[in-house]
Amino acid sequence: MYQTIILGSLLLVSLYILKRVREPKKNMPPLVRYKFPIIGHTYSYLFNCEEFLKQCKAEYGDIFSLYVWGQVKTIVGKEYSQEILSRDDAFSFAVAFNRRFPGGELLKNLGSISPTRLLKDYIFCKLNFYSERMQKSLYLATQKYIDIGDHNEQKTFNNMYYLMTRIISTPIANIFLGEEEYQYDEIINTFAEITSDLSLFLIIPPILDIIYPGLQNYFNCILIRTGIYNPALKHQDILIKHINNQVCKRLQEKDKYGDSWKRPDDFLQDIMELDGFDSNNVNCSSLADKICALLFASIHTTASGCANVFMDLASRPQYMQELYEEQLEVHKEADENGVLPFEALNNMKKLDSFVRESFRLSGHIVSLEHVVLKDYTFSNGLQVPKDRIVNIYAEDVYQDESLQGPNPKSFEPFRHVDVNASAAKIGKNYLSFGGGKHACPGRYFAINEIKFFMHNMILNYNFRTASGKIEKRRMIGPMALPSSGGIIIEKRVK
Ligand code: HEM
Repeated sequence: MYQTIILGSLLLVSLYILKRVREPKKNMPPLVRYKFPIIGHTYSYLFNCEEFLKQCKAEYGDIFSLYVWGQVKTIVGKEYSQEILSRDDAFSFAVAFNRRFPGGELLKNLGSISPTRLLKDYIFCKLNFYSERMQKSLYLATQKYIDIGDHNEQKTFNNMYYLMTRIISTPIANIFLGEEEYQYDEIINTFAEITSDLSLFLIIPPILDIIYPGLQNYFNCILIRTGIYNPALKHQDILIKHINNQVCKRLQEKDKYGDSWKRPDDFLQDIMELDGFDSNNVNCSSLADKICALLFASIHTTASGCANVFMDLASRPQYMQELYEEQLEVHKEADENGVLPFEALNNMKKLDSFVRESFRLSGHIVSLEHVVLKDYTFSNGLQVPKDRIVNIYAEDVYQDESLQGPNPKSFEPFRHVDVNASAAKIGKNYLSFGGGKHACPGRYFAINEIKFFMHNMILNYNFRTASGKIEKRRMIGPMALPSSGGIIIEKRVK
């Protein structure tokens, strides 16, 4: 028995060595020197990322590798970042995400239809149609959550991100689940909280990966499978309950009214009627998982983008008047209910530029983690092997004068006005929405929502930071989150 195990192990080791010897040697990116085995660069990457990466780049060049959480990852600077985004045969954002996030375990009933396809087919082609509902539900939510009594009162809000998750979720719930369900607090709370609850899997450091790459995700899957920890369950139950109510109600009404039935126009109705739809056997768990997947992509991203834009303006009151005058002009196009035509978004040029500047300076030091799908040679000859994690060195892109124009580090809100670069326009100098074939398909939806929200806030409220200073992003390692500094909001006296 022991002999077999020893012989087997020797054979495996010999095969491994033979394979390594036969493999042609790759021209890999330089691995930055480190002092302590196992820990490698983990400490510097987490606690001194900005300075550390600057030093690495100065010493090792545009592409270099680090040893973080027991794995080698490659950081790719501005010159080569577009190769990662444009070569989807060689790099994948989705595979990298699924390696860290146990989505398959959490959303078991998702089915095979890609959420991107569903969004493109049923939401993004109808942005104009949904615009009025988006505005009305946004304004209702703004009044509800930014609840300031009369003119003289002012209120301090200490966590804009929390507030924004609720406000942003309201129009999304309206469009996804319909005109009735979005009015339930239970639904808005689920929409607002699901991402942060599930994000724990992404935020907790992958400590077990130090023992073996992938072990952390395996462990997380076991936690979910055995029922020890599953943060999605309570949200799925709430969604299933509401979807079930709607489905029953809609099917009954359709039966009752026949041809005169007014079909609800929302995403739920669209996905209920997908191919293979059987009115006697609607799978509400599958519908709920499809919605969950989209919530994960849409709520945190839009809410944190919007919180950043709002905090950035509150931090720089000197730009308020110019933006106010633009919004006042745009508002002349509104109807008697204060609803703007969809086209009015194009006339918010200064606001759009402000939003783009806020996204440009989002504060992420590295972003867009991808997995290498097959051995790849960058145009400078450096090679990364299959399965390697690569990250884009975002700060290198955003602090480069040739890509960003003069003073790339400073917040210049109107720098994009005359250069035909809208807030949703992707490009090699703007990575917020990724790039190439897989660039975020929800970016127009998100930017429209943020612009409608800001339009309303600028016209109706005054706001400033409680500290009177510029509120900076909160950093967690290389990742930035909106500041939680206080904001004072009061009604604008017109
Ligand atoms: C400010 C808000 C948003 C930001 C910053 C953002 C950012 C991103 C990024 C960086 C990617 C990866 C792109 C790549 O692989 O190159 C992505 C993908 C995606 N986003 Fe967004 N997103 C936002 C809003 C939304 C919204 C509102 C939706 C849906 C309603 C959405 C749906 C998606 C989907 C489905 C994908 C996957 C695309 C694919 O793999 O082909 N996103 N997003």
